[in-house]
Amino acid sequence: MDRVKTHVLGFDEALDGGIPRGSVVLVSGSAGTMKTALTFSILYENVKAGSKALYISLEENEEDLKAAMSQLGLEGLDDIELYVLDVGKIRLEHKEEELSKNWLDILQKYIEQRVRMNAFDFVAIDSLAALYSLSTLGHPRRDLFHFFGFLKGLDATTFLISEVPASENGRLGRYEEEFLADGILYLKHFEKGETDVQLRMRCVKMRRTRHEAGWFALIRDGGRFQITRAISE
Ligand SMILES: Nc1ncnc2c1ncn2[C@@H]1O[C@H](COP(=O)(O)OP(=O)(O)OP(=O)(O)O)[C@@H](O)[C@H]1O
Ligand SMILES: [Mg+2]
Repeated sequence: MDRVKTHVLGFDEALDGGIPRGSVVLVSGSAGTMKTALTFSILYENVKAGSKALYISLEENEEDLKAAMSQLGLEGLDDIELYVLDVGKIRLEHKEEELSKNWLDILQKYIEQRVRMNAFDFVAIDSLAALYSLSTLGHPRRDLFHFFGFLKGLDATTFLISEVPASENGRLGRYEEEFLADGILYLKHFEKGETDVQLRMRCVKMRRTRHEAGWFALIRDGGRFQITRAISE
């Protein structure tokens, strides 16, 4: 099995070596659970190891995103094969389609072209919620079924950032994404005692993988992400 590494220290072992290449992986979590930082850093580490990646940002513009990632310790972002697509820019290039707001279609065409042209190994979309807010989904389940089918057909491993409410338990996507995705990484803030909060991650599912399913504490230390076994109190 050809697997791609997350480069999160300790986590690839928990994933039986990594994520099966070509998978569509949901990165779910509530606000501020480092969905962007984690996903971007997975692409960054793989690009440093020789891959090519496309990060599609629908919410943060390229400058803000890169500034935040530099602050996180990711260096040389302008000199590596990690391309950030600032969706504000495509919107200007597709003015005629802006009215129909068929963003699922616009992005699909764009991704198809770019993955074929530039041979991207990784694609990330940040976030699905933002994509939905720019799309008119006539039949969400059907439309997303086809969109996920398209992503799975690509020669790239895909990460889709999914925003879920902190309060709601169990929902990891808005429609049927949980069932359409090949893998789900779930990020969640846990209250520790009365005053502290700990960020934890767990692999909810990963097709074709005998993965660990429990919670790990996720920390960013010394310029990289790492996990430690979360101990319940
Ligand atoms: N080294 C670090 N260790 C722990 N937390 C950090 C570190 N650096 C930044 N953060 C925190 O990470 C959070 C933001 O991470 P990020 O933007 O990736 O989250 P997100 O889940 O994408 O958020 P949003 O819901 O706004 O998209 C901020 O609250 C920031 O303070
Ligand atoms: Mg984010």
